[in-house]
Amino acid sequence: MIRRKNFSLKSLNTFGLDVQTREYVRIHSTEDLQNLPADLPKPWFFLGGGSNILFTRDFPGTVLHIDLRGRGIASENEHEAVVFGMAGENWHEFVSYTLQLNLGGIENLSLIPGNVGTAPVQNIGAYGVELRDVFDHLEAYDLDTGKMVSLTLEDCDFAYRNSIFKRTGKNRYIITKVFLRLQKHPQIKTHYGAIAQELETMQISNPDIHDVARAVIRIRKSKLPDPADLGNCGSFFKNPVIDTHHLEKLKKDYPDIPNFPTNTANKTKVPAGWLIEQSGWKGKAIGSVSMHNRQALVLVNLGKATGKELLAHAARVKESVVEKFGIHLEEEVNVL
Ligand code: EPU
Repeated sequence: MIRRKNFSLKSLNTFGLDVQTREYVRIHSTEDLQNLPADLPKPWFFLGGGSNILFTRDFPGTVLHIDLRGRGIASENEHEAVVFGMAGENWHEFVSYTLQLNLGGIENLSLIPGNVGTAPVQNIGAYGVELRDVFDHLEAYDLDTGKMVSLTLEDCDFAYRNSIFKRTGKNRYIITKVFLRLQKHPQIKTHYGAIAQELETMQISNPDIHDVARAVIRIRKSKLPDPADLGNCGSFFKNPVIDTHHLEKLKKDYPDIPNFPTNTANKTKVPAGWLIEQSGWKGKAIGSVSMHNRQALVLVNLGKATGKELLAHAARVKESVVEKFGIHLEEEVNVL
């Protein structure tokens, strides 16, 4: 365990915001979690890869940085393997590791920023696959009881960019180890439009999991800014779900409005990126803040923006979308 006072979080958040925390603790093992010093100032915040957090001010309490490392195969048979990653492992490196093992299931989730331990919080998803599709179980430290627990798929109650860890389990469970069930003879998923197109461009007619991963990486690199070049947290808002009759009304003025069915009757998902672009915010900078010029759903720090400036921009965008479409966008990123 490493402990510091007045510690800068600049390199630990992908918006690149230069905020300080009153105390910083780096956790290297589950024993560290079980032996947390009693005098750490509250509130506590648990930090993973820092790729889904917008700090609007210095943090007055303790940031606990979960840096548990390790990965491996927990069990396997001739069809599948249960693979585990410790919470502090980088997500994309973990995906690459499973591809090296020739295991399929998370190739569509290549290049998503963040760590293995934060993937379940958000139920990360992209290109037609969500974490819950391959999730087996996870281990977590329960702050309420001081004990390690094992949580199943059902316990985690995953939904679109949502889980128990954003609701009743928030500030209670610290995810330490995630187990995924991956396939030795995988069925690849290319139904998400952009992948099939990209594979065609790559002139691959009989793709395997490695080809799908390469296609996803090419698509993401072409649209989504790399936090190493331009501070961002991926999609800043969730794609809103609206009533189908609301969509029908909008179609009169916007016949091309993209929309996707949901599992709920009379509810339709509309891409926030499209709504933001139509509202005139794509690539339009105010000071050092903009919605990205190639993917309007991504809020970017063009240089020296503060968290407050980023949040003010997000509020302007939300206001425009409400005025134009009567749709309320909800943040996907945590704001502190
Ligand atoms: N669109 C626009 N303008 C834009 C951006 C998008 O018109 O500036 C339209 C596109 O033309 C398309 C639709 O919106 O018709 C959907 O766009 P895209 O395929 O890029 O996906 P998205 O819905 O904007 C979601 C996820 C991404 C994920 C992609 C691919 C959410 C909040 N975001 O974005 O996840 O990579 O699908 O599956 O669900 C993330 O969560 O950080 C993230 C990047």
